Amino acid sequence: MKTINIAILGCGTVGGGVAKILTEQQSLLSKRAGVNINLKTIAELNPEAAIKRFGIDKKYFATASPSENIKNILEANDIDIVVETMGGKSDFVHDTCLNVLKNNKHLVTANKALLAERGQDIFEQAIKSNLQIGYEAAVCGAIPIIKGIKECFTGDIIQSVCGIMNGTSNYILSQMTSQGLDFDQALKLAQQNGYAEADPSLDINGGDASHKLILLIKLAYGLKVNMEQLPITGIAQITKNDMEFAREINAKLKLICFAKREGNQVYATVRPMAVKNTNTLSFVDDAVNAVRLDNKYSGTHFLIGKGAGSSETAMSIVSDIVFIAKHQNVITEEENHNLTLGDCSKIAFPYLVSFKTKNLPGTTGLITTAIGNQGINIETVGHNRFSGETADFSIETESCELSKIEAAIAEIKSAKDGLLLESPKIIPILY
Ligand code: HSE
Repeated sequence: MKTINIAILGCGTVGGGVAKILTEQQSLLSKRAGVNINLKTIAELNPEAAIKRFGIDKKYFATASPSENIKNILEANDIDIVVETMGGKSDFVHDTCLNVLKNNKHLVTANKALLAERGQDIFEQAIKSNLQIGYEAAVCGAIPIIKGIKECFTGDIIQSVCGIMNGTSNYILSQMTSQGLDFDQALKLAQQNGYAEADPSLDINGGDASHKLILLIKLAYGLKVNMEQLPITGIAQITKNDMEFAREINAKLKLICFAKREGNQVYATVRPMAVKNTNTLSFVDDAVNAVRLDNKYSGTHFLIGKGAGSSETAMSIVSDIVFIAKHQNVITEEENHNLTLGDCSKIAFPYLVSFKTKNLPGTTGLITTAIGNQGINIETVGHNRFSGETADFSIETESCELSKIEAAIAEIKSAKDGLLLESPKIIPILY
């Protein structure tokens, strides 16, 4: 039986999980691949820690200096697939991935930040070298969304792809909803329970979710979007009241990755949305991820599962290894539908608009009239929450363009200066 040799660069949480599955399941994986899958070597700064944590035999660890180990792997003639699990988007990691492909080896990685922000030349090099990049693990951990789009829905046209793609922020929002916590309390709980990092910025500011959406937009629509082009809003501004307002309209606030094709444009954003209880995404709680595909011929599909974790993410990497070992010659060109990125504020959404106002008679009437003056139908006016001299309430609108809501807010401001104590929060509603 032919042998496919694997090298792993970085044996931390994910790389260690990969080594463990490859060694524990070697004969089963080889049967599935139809070739002998052989873990040949691991380059790791701290082999002792990896040996202790994952119980991997020390024979797999290369023994030269870290840079020498990587150089040897890149130059080896008998390595077929390199697994990059060092993480980060430094020049070193970027150049190493590029050199894997230049040295005629397939690349498998979970590195969403690298691929989304600096991946263009890496993807181009793979095509040039007639090699594959496996990156199932980079988007929603264990959920097979990359292969879903690339291999399973090839008979279809994907009209929209949206979902919950960051487990940490979903955990925080779920705790706020179910326990009535405010944002800071829920974040602290997420950190105590190991869901959020000490520096949780990338998870709560929408950055991590954006990396995943950028990769899915590229795959589904052949459209290259960068972080600066994508409108991104995180979850740090969400309050307990916002959660209550969402509950009043039978919805839950979720950090949503949203991309929708209309004509020759793709509209995309990452931001909190009020997801109606009729949409399965509203039931995806805690640290779970989910992706919803709306397809032209086959309708709606949900993929729900673990988006992070050592063995979960490692499983996707191992699946990529088996796929590449089995189908080494299957190189698919990027699709190009000549689509461009549209202005997301131009597509109509129903909105949940929340107001913090002075507690004065006539306020609700003034605000609802201003909204009506823009031709916007109101679905629900939530009840007021009074606290001393302030009042908070929300309005659920029917579908309209964002500019109409903004015009209504401008009218309210000019009709009664100082009535609005904060800029109203405008949250799209997802059915
Ligand atoms: N930190 C991410 C999450 C997983 O919370 O979902 C890695 O992208």
